[in-house]
This record gives sequence, C-alpha cells and structure tokens, in this order.
Amino acid sequence: MKIGIIGYGSMGKMLLWKFAEKGSIAKQDLYVFNKTIEKCDEAKDIAQIVSAKEIAANCDITFVCVRPADIKVVLEEIKDSVKEGTLIVSLNGSVSFESIGTVIDCQTAKVIPSLTAEIGRSQTLVCYNGKVTETKKNALKTLLSSIGDVIELPENEMGMGSELVSCMPGFIASIFDVICNSAKKHTSIPDDQIVRMVLQTMSATGDLMLQKDMTFEDVVTRVATPGGITEEGTKVVYEGFPETADLLFEKTLEKRRQTAAKNK
Ligand SMILES: NC(=O)c1ccc[n+]([C@@H]2O[C@H](COP(=O)([O-])OP(=O)(O)OC[C@H]3O[C@@H](n4cnc5c(N)ncnc54)[C@H](OP(=O)(O)O)[C@@H]3O)[C@@H](O)[C@H]2O)c1
Repeated sequence: MKIGIIGYGSMGKMLLWKFAEKGSIAKQDLYVFNKTIEKCDEAKDIAQIVSAKEIAANCDITFVCVRPADIKVVLEEIKDSVKEGTLIVSLNGSVSFESIGTVIDCQTAKVIPSLTAEIGRSQTLVCYNGKVTETKKNALKTLLSSIGDVIELPENEMGMGSELVSCMPGFIASIFDVICNSAKKHTSIPDDQIVRMVLQTMSATGDLMLQKDMTFEDVVTRVATPGGITEEGTKVVYEGFPETADLLFEKTLEKRRQTAAKNK
C-alpha cells in the first residue's frame, strides 16, 4: 500500500513522520510533495520526494494537506493522473464531497486529526463519500490508528466534530492561558510553576474522569463542598462562562459556513 502526502505543512509533516515512525510505512511506500519543495528535504530519509502528479499516479491513499483555498488547485493538478481505485483524503472539514466531486469523482474521505497526534493521542475524525470500499475504509482506519483513536462521523457533523477534537486543543490552551494569567496577579509563585501546576492538574483531571468514568458534575461535586471555597469559584464559572462558550461556537461555526461557501 503506497501512501502520498501533498502539502508538507503543519498537518502533512505530522502525518508523514507518524506514518513512517508509528505506522511502519517504509520509504519506498511513502511519497511527499510540497509547493515549496525544499521544505521536504528534511524528510528525504523517510519518504520519496516527487511531484503531486507522481503521487496521484502511484499512491493507493493520497492525503491532500493544504489550506481550503488550495484544495481545488491541487485536485485540478492531479485529476488526470489519479491511479484507478485511489482513495483521496482531504484534511479539511469545510470543503464538501460535492465540491471535491466537481473536480475528481472518485473514492474520497475527509480526515480531521488533532494536534494531540504528536503524542499518539489524536481523536481523528473520518467520513467517506458513497464510493469508498470497505477495504479502503479498513486500510485508512489502520493507518490512522497509528496516531490515536479513529471516530467515524456523517459528513454533516464534521464541522462541529472538528471544533470538539481538532480546534479544542486551541480552545483549551486559550482558556487555561486566561486562568493562569489571572492566577499570576494573586501570587508570588513563579509563572512557569503556575502553568505546570495547572497543566498537570488539568491533564490528571481528564485522565481521572476517563479512568473512573466520572462526569463533570461528579468532579465538581467531589471538590466543591457546599458553602466551601471551590463552590465560590465554580458558581462564577457556571454563571459567567456559558455566554462565552455559546459565542465561541457561534463564531467558529459561522466561520466554517463562510469557508465552505467560499470554496464551493
Ligand atoms: N493545523 C491543524 O491543527 C489542523 C487540524 C485538522 C485539519 N487541518 C486542515 O489541514 C489542512 C492543512 O492545514 P495545515 O495547518 O497543515 O496548513 P499549513 O501549515 O499552512 O500547510 C499547508 C501546506 O500546503 C502547501 N501547499 C499549498 N499549496 C500547495 C500546492 N498547490 N501543492 C502542494 N503543496 C501546497 C504549503 O506549501 P508552501 O509553504 O510552499 O505554500 C504548506 O506547506 C487545512 O485544510 C486545515 O484546515 C488542520
């Protein structure tokens, strides 16, 4: 099974190196291309650096890891070279199968990995157009298992799904950045120690909930004794934060709709 990556940016680079290291894809089966081709030089020991057309002509699964505005440019470039039975994988949740199908009408999937793939803990979303065979679905799932868990969703849920796994590291980081900055105003504990204390506690809270099958409410109830100090803080969050959370999803989903409309 030959695997190709077109676009060696943040996502393409991460996938290429993970497929080589964790997916055990050998150099002769791994292909890469980027517009600024020199960027790929660092991958010369793990993959073959070739043109986009050569990737399309040789690979059984081709990942298109470019920004939404460049997806159709890449598809136009490779459309006459695509190998029979190839699975084209778009990394973008907003560009529809319908839109991709206007350029290349073949087996197509959308895959949304998360930055947490870097430590093998991606919650990778996948959806397929109606043409993808079970064999290709299984091959893709096996490949993606090398970066974490794989979750199949219908196409119309890929947008919100992306917010929950792919955008979420950014949301979580920004929320806890705000919390740490506020904490810094009230203490002489060094900044880096504050961040480490909060990060370890955040990460351990997630693991605790997953391992002990606890809900958010369970955690709040265990920590916030009625009339106690934690309850003062959790009340502030439940009273003030819902408005911010609603606004966050309104804004991101609207941006997603605009991106989809622009790249029809
Ligand atoms: N970042 C994330 O966490 C994340 C998560 C899930 C999905 N995604 C999706 O993944 C896609 C890629 O995102 P990214 O963050 O990896 O973007 P990125 O870092 O900007 O990388 C895009 C790469 O595509 C290359 N490129 C542009 N046009 C090309 C062409 N015609 N042929 C070959 N290569 C071309 C660019 O090369 P040059 O530098 O030479 O222009 C650049 O290296 C996007 O659709 C994004 O929505 C991203």
